[in-house]
Amino acid sequence: MSTPMEIAEQNPMLDATIHPPHDASMDLSHQISTQPTIIAEQLNVAEPLAATDPPPPPPPAPTPLHDNKFLVSVEVCLKPSSTARLEDVQRAVERMLENRSMSYVDGLVLIPPHDLFLVENVQRICICDTEEWVKNNDVLLFWQVKPVVHAFQLTEEGPCEELGPDGQPSSFNEWILPAKEFDGLWESLIYESGLKQRLLRYAASALLFTQKGVNPNLVSWNRIVLLHGPPGTGKTSLCKALAQKLSIRCNSRYPHCQLIEVNAHSLFSKWFSESGKLVAKLFQKIQEMVEEDNNLVFVLIDEVESLAAARKAALSGSEPSDSIRVVNALLTQMDKLKSAPNVIILTTSNITTAIDVAFVDRADIKAYVGPPTLHVRYEILRSCVEELISKGIISSFQGCDGLSIPSFSSLKEKVNANELHDTDTVPLFCKQLIEAAESCEGLSGRSLRKLPFLAHAALADPHSRDASNFLCAMIETAKREKSEHPE
Ligand SMILES: Nc1ncnc2c1ncn2[C@@H]1O[C@H](COP(=O)(O)OP(=O)(O)OP(=O)(O)O)[C@@H](O)[C@H]1O
Ligand SMILES: [Mg+2]
Repeated sequence: MSTPMEIAEQNPMLDATIHPPHDASMDLSHQISTQPTIIAEQLNVAEPLAATDPPPPPPPAPTPLHDNKFLVSVEVCLKPSSTARLEDVQRAVERMLENRSMSYVDGLVLIPPHDLFLVENVQRICICDTEEWVKNNDVLLFWQVKPVVHAFQLTEEGPCEELGPDGQPSSFNEWILPAKEFDGLWESLIYESGLKQRLLRYAASALLFTQKGVNPNLVSWNRIVLLHGPPGTGKTSLCKALAQKLSIRCNSRYPHCQLIEVNAHSLFSKWFSESGKLVAKLFQKIQEMVEEDNNLVFVLIDEVESLAAARKAALSGSEPSDSIRVVNALLTQMDKLKSAPNVIILTTSNITTAIDVAFVDRADIKAYVGPPTLHVRYEILRSCVEELISKGIISSFQGCDGLSIPSFSSLKEKVNANELHDTDTVPLFCKQLIEAAESCEGLSGRSLRKLPFLAHAALADPHSRDASNFLCAMIETAKREKSEHPE
């Protein structure tokens, strides 16, 4: 088992987050921790230095953490029936964790049956994002960890849809977060290269800079995220999942969170003459929400290229001049929102290169969301197969520990990547899963999530539940889908 400092040395990403061996001034800064510090801790990311902080220590001296411990997020979902206060549940979970000498790995924590308060109020307790701290399936032990508990209750209301004038398609949907619909979405999205952590860190910095009142004339930043990449790579889902995650992690600072999902198509459709009014109505609504200090508002503008296209078409004279006014109105409104500390604008685009420059320049973080790699394809298919096993549609594999199939990284730990097919160390069903993942190179995450269904529909006997047959069918289906997939 590695110590925190050893782990930090193995993993350069951690350099910024491990406490220096001893630095009294930094200890003190934590005793007088301020609201923004709390936000950074709640997000479980290192707090970046704000302009008013003392000069940073020379690299590689790291940013302080609590008592040389890893901050690990523990999410506690209350039962829909619970009427307990979030703070009470949070404290009860903190006490429960303090009394247990457990190791911290991602996943569910058993609720002690004798703790009647927790049993009555809590649906699940989940440890999150430990892989940021440890690699190679290492585990964190209780003495290395300071758990950061986030209690939340999901809203079950669903989106509330606003109709446009005269019953036209709505120009936006509003969600109260955290919403039941987005539960588990973040965990279901699999990416390599720490994309999800990068987005969380970004949000922490953006909120912190605003909280600390960093002068935007000196340091310029805004709260606009652009995710771009090919279709079906999970961009829209990732935006929604990020909003949900932040609503959970920031709920002690922002007890109310909303997601406004703007329907760009309906804004720029045939009702151009009405569009100006729609944009005005939309932003008026957002402004009202933002004025409430305790609200954190996410605005999701999906397929933002339709906006840019409308502007371009208008400039070239092929669209009514109305459209340019609408696009410009929208950009102006977005600029106005920039001064509000509690708004994050999330946008997506399928166009990876020439998006309207005026728009791209506004985005702080432009992340490319690419097609799934072999590792990611394996993990997506693995999660699908585990779900089918848990629902009894296929039987579990021989020699497989309960429901869980070995992860790609745990296989790679045992054998060299190019030996995955040859060695006896890798069980047959994993080899089949790898073959299926290899066969669907070039397919999107969206197509991959459909594959197990198509494979099942292709089975000669859909009631057989035979896991090996199912994987053969999945390999065949993957090959067929691939051959039908336009390059
Ligand atoms: N990397 C991934 N990991 C897990 N699931 C994924 C991944 N990429 C896509 N998916 C699945 O594909 C589905 C479609 O994703 P989504 O609609 O968010 O993609 P998109 O990039 O917004 O697509 P489009 O560009 O067509 O709008 C989601 O339900 C998601 O579960
Ligand atoms: Mg999308």
